[in-house]
Parts: sequence; C-alpha cells; structure tokens
Amino acid sequence: MKAVVWHGKRDVRVDDVPDPTLQDPTDAIVRISSSGICGSDLHLYEVLGPFMSEGDILGHEPMGVVEEAGSEAGVEVGDRVVMPFQISCGSCFMCDQKLYTQCETTQVRDQGMGAALFGYTKLYGAVPGGQAEFLRVPQAQNTTIKVPEGPADERFVYLSDVLPTAWQAVEYAAVTEGGSVTVLGLGPIGDMASRIAMHKGLRVIGVDIVPERLERASERGVEVIDLIEHPDDLAEVVRGMTDGRGTDSVIEAVGMEAHGSPGAKIAHQMAGYLPDPLAEKVMEKAGIDRLHAFHLAIDIVRRGGTISLIGVYGGMADPLPMLTIFDKQIQLRMGQANVKRWVDDIMPLLMDGDPLGVEGFATHKVPLEEAPRAYEIFQKKEDGAVKVLLQP
Ligand SMILES: NC(=O)c1ccc[n+]([C@@H]2O[C@H](COP(=O)([O-])OP(=O)(O)OC[C@H]3O[C@@H](n4cnc5c(N)ncnc54)[C@H](O)[C@@H]3O)[C@@H](O)[C@H]2O)c1
Ligand SMILES: [Zn+2]
Ligand SMILES: [Zn+2]
Repeated sequence: MKAVVWHGKRDVRVDDVPDPTLQDPTDAIVRISSSGICGSDLHLYEVLGPFMSEGDILGHEPMGVVEEAGSEAGVEVGDRVVMPFQISCGSCFMCDQKLYTQCETTQVRDQGMGAALFGYTKLYGAVPGGQAEFLRVPQAQNTTIKVPEGPADERFVYLSDVLPTAWQAVEYAAVTEGGSVTVLGLGPIGDMASRIAMHKGLRVIGVDIVPERLERASERGVEVIDLIEHPDDLAEVVRGMTDGRGTDSVIEAVGMEAHGSPGAKIAHQMAGYLPDPLAEKVMEKAGIDRLHAFHLAIDIVRRGGTISLIGVYGGMADPLPMLTIFDKQIQLRMGQANVKRWVDDIMPLLMDGDPLGVEGFATHKVPLEEAPRAYEIFQKKEDGAVKVLLQP
C-alpha cells in the first residue's frame, strides 16, 4: 500500500510499504478514505524529530471502511468508522472514567507515557499511522466510532481529533454562561474551539498572526486581534476589551510551535541537527520549549480564571512565573483530548444541519500522493492552508 512515511526533518514521502495485517482478535483493518494532517504532525515534522524513526508512518486523523475484522474487534466488515487518535480498550480503570488518553491497556509504560497514539513517535508506542491506504486498528472494540452512511467524509472525519479536542478545550475552559474566552492560535484546533465556544453563547476573542486565519474566525463573529500588531501589549488590549480584567478563560491552542521566542527557536533548530540521543536530551532537559503562548495566557486570563491548555508541550526545564500563577489564582487544565468522552455531545451537531461548519472547514483536499507538498504548505501557512485532508 501507499503511506506517508517520515524520513527526517521536513522530509516526508509517499512510499510503498507492506499492507497491515490482523495480529490480535481485537484488531481491525480499515481502508482509509480521508485522513487529516494535524498541527501535531508539524511537531513531528520538525521539533519532535528525535523521537521518530525513519520509516514511521504518520497520521492520526483517519476514517474509512472496515476491510477485515478480528473475532473480538466489535466492528463488521463494511462498517464506516472514524478512528480516535488514541488507542484505548474501553474497559480498564481509566477508560471507565472516560480518561481514554490514559488507557491502562495501551499506556506506553517503557516511556512513562499515557495511551498509545497512532503515528506519533516512540514516546507514544510507534504505532503505524493513518495517512495511508490501510490502517491496522488495535483495540478496535473501543478505538472506532461508527458513523452513518450518506453524508460526505468531511461531516465525520474531524471526530478523530479536531472536534473532540476543541470540545474538550472549551469544556476545560469552564466558562460560565455568558462569559468570555480568549482563544490563542486560530489553526484548526483554535478555530474549531472558537466555533464551539460561540455555539455555546460565549464571547470569543481570537488571536493569531496569519491574516487568513484571523479573517476566517472574524467572518464567524470572533473578535480577532493580530499578535503582529500587538507584540508587547496583547494582554493590555484584551484587558481593555474586558473592563480591565482579562477574559474569564484562555484556551491556548498554539503549543510548542509558538512564534515569538527567538532563543527557543535557535535551540529547536540545534536539536534538529544533533545526533538523536543527544537531541532527545536537549528536548527533554534543556527546556527549549517555546512557552510564549502559555506566558501570554497567564497574562491575559482574569484573576481567578482558567487556562485550558490544549496545544501540545514537551520538555522539562521551562521556567514558569509561579508567583503570578499563584497570586492570580489561576486554574490550569490540560492534556490530550479523551476523544470518545465527547462524541455523544458532538454527534447531534453533525447530523442536524452543520452549526459548526465542518463542511468547508478543510481548505485543501488532496490525494495521498500530494502529502509532501501538503505538509510544506501547512507548516509554512502558505496557499491559505488551514486544514488539509488527504484522500487515499
Ligand atoms: N491536546 C490534544 O489532544 C491536541 C490534539 C490536536 C492538536 N493539539 C495541539 O493543538 C495545537 C494547535 O493545533 P493546530 O492543528 O490548530 O495547529 P496549527 O499549528 O495550525 O495552529 C497553531 C496556530 O497558532 C498560531 N500562533 C503561533 N504562535 C502564536 C502566538 N504566540 N500567539 C497566538 N497564536 C500563535 C499559528 O499562527 C497557528 O495558526 C498544536 O500544538 C497541536 O499539537 C492538541
Ligand atoms: Zn491531530
Ligand atoms: Zn483502557
């Protein structure tokens, strides 16, 4: 089959690789029809390179049709399914609490990490990903979401990641009715989180640096601020819009690719050129993460408010303004999205009309073969790329 394969920093290719096969009774093989490229893939494309191995298949936002099913897979050949980005059993202590990202059956214990993820480094189990013609789905009895026939893939494909991640971001932001939230980053996750927050009747202020992204959000009623125009006084501007207080909550949907911290950028680039074991150490210990957006969130949120951190972070030695976090009494919630936790809340919005605008959310739908170029334009934010769907 054809698959999107990681070869090195900023080097993904479409290769011929062996077809996946059933290995356990709980496995299913799915023929992929659509597969998203995610902001999280950009971390692999560049800064998380040390945790990748040449030959790894990328992708964690796939959907398709069951081609083969093991005896305990809980799905039938021909079922139309979306795969959550995390692999979870559905019946352990953590899954019982709907903390699927912490599934005790698939936890990657040798790395000290939570549930295994599709296509996401050896930290998360080095599981082959879904930007491919076929995908082996382990623990298929819980790692699939059955969706109805009929509507286009676009209706459902974002159930794998974008929708539940954005939904969790808004839930964790815990804004009371009629309250306000600042969304930092208007990539697919921040954009969708803004849509969900507005759907719930909240006031949304959105921040980014890319004109098309600001425009897209503004068209849907988000009050947007361009960080480029306010490099040093963004928090002041938000306070000015909110009776001097700041918003009730801040959703941080940027993560460690934040722009604005040049020292970190150089360290990242250095890590990219070091031999892997050394680069891993730099990434884990040297604190080279770009915390710019997180620092902004701490500044913007009102006293006693909540920061919902949905952007992905890594590393250790990052200095944090503990005095400010403590003194402002900030509540902090974060983590990978527990996908299946939110599906029942989201599904009605996909079936009745399309209040979140999932149809038309993708800016690019391209054949799998065009993945290398798609990664490039998504990373460089060229050609208006906000969300790319690969269609094998
Ligand atoms: N927690 C989860 O389960 C989960 C799931 C999916 C994605 N994510 C993470 O969410 C983040 C966003 O994902 P995405 O797909 O939208 O990616 P993206 O890279 O397209 O979006 C990030 C956006 O942030 C903007 N930005 C950069 N620096 C900024 C700053 N200092 N202030 C404000 N905006 C800034 C960028 O211009 C970009 O539009 C990534 O870190 C991704 O890994 C987390
Ligand atoms: Zn994703
Ligand atoms: Zn489990």
